[in-house]
Amino acid sequence: MKTVLITGVGRRLGFFLAHQFVGLGYRVIGQYRSERAELAELRDVGVTLIQADFSQRDQLLSFVERLPSECESLDVLIHNASLFVSDEPSHSPAEQASFFDAMYAVHMLAPKLINECMYPALRKAKGCVVVMSDIYAHQPHAKFRSYCASKAGLANMLKAYACHWAPEVRVNGIEPGPMLFLEEHDQQHRDRVLAQTPLAKEGGIEPVWQTIKLLINNEYLTGCSIKVDGGRSLTQW
Ligand SMILES: NC(=O)c1ccc[n+]([C@@H]2O[C@H](COP(=O)([O-])OP(=O)(O)OC[C@H]3O[C@@H](n4cnc5c(N)ncnc54)[C@H](OP(=O)(O)O)[C@@H]3O)[C@@H](O)[C@H]2O)c1
Repeated sequence: MKTVLITGVGRRLGFFLAHQFVGLGYRVIGQYRSERAELAELRDVGVTLIQADFSQRDQLLSFVERLPSECESLDVLIHNASLFVSDEPSHSPAEQASFFDAMYAVHMLAPKLINECMYPALRKAKGCVVVMSDIYAHQPHAKFRSYCASKAGLANMLKAYACHWAPEVRVNGIEPGPMLFLEEHDQQHRDRVLAQTPLAKEGGIEPVWQTIKLLINNEYLTGCSIKVDGGRSLTQW
């Protein structure tokens, strides 16, 4: 049986992916931060769930120390967990430092430590890694400076792992644009983003899922990041 490890399975894309991989017959290991009603559904379909808040160093370390005992062979690893929060100008330097540390921990340190501890399992399966990045990694949003910078670091790191681990393990990424708005996004924000998006609609999860399957199945892809953004990266904002 093939195995996939997905971070951030408690909601939205991660939750959807966990169900899709169960449907494809994979054993699914999912990391989550907060207990949510959706997690009961995942437990019911046999997903192995492990709790960890990556911004808490002790929880992150316990998580990566436990992972190798959960699976000896790993076919697919998806770095999906993410913290999409804007920088707060009124924050004190100490608050800014802890905010930046959290961004760095979720988007860079956790993927790095998970990669390192799961490398033997990935190599055994000739597996692949999919990194969920963002078009903002290349064209930052002024209000989300720490988010964008840490996603840019993640996008860079995927290329280093792609070189370092070839030919046994492939590492690729996806850079979504407006995939799914957040509940707190008001209509004015949505209209503005869609006006900057040539395909002029919220993409939804399905185009990302199609791209994940492409990255898993195409054995001649490594070190590449595919923009799934309705063309938004072609415009200025
Ligand atoms: N949505 C979009 O339009 C869009 C656009 C560009 C890029 N992306 C990228 O695509 C991926 C999926 O997007 P999404 O909108 O489905 O993500 P999301 O709803 O923002 O959440 C991803 C998951 O990350 C988890 N998470 C947050 N902070 C964490 C922490 N400190 N430790 C561990 N886990 C933590 C969350 O856990 P909780 O359940 O506890 O909140 C959540 O389940 C993300 O990597 C995102 O950056 C999305």
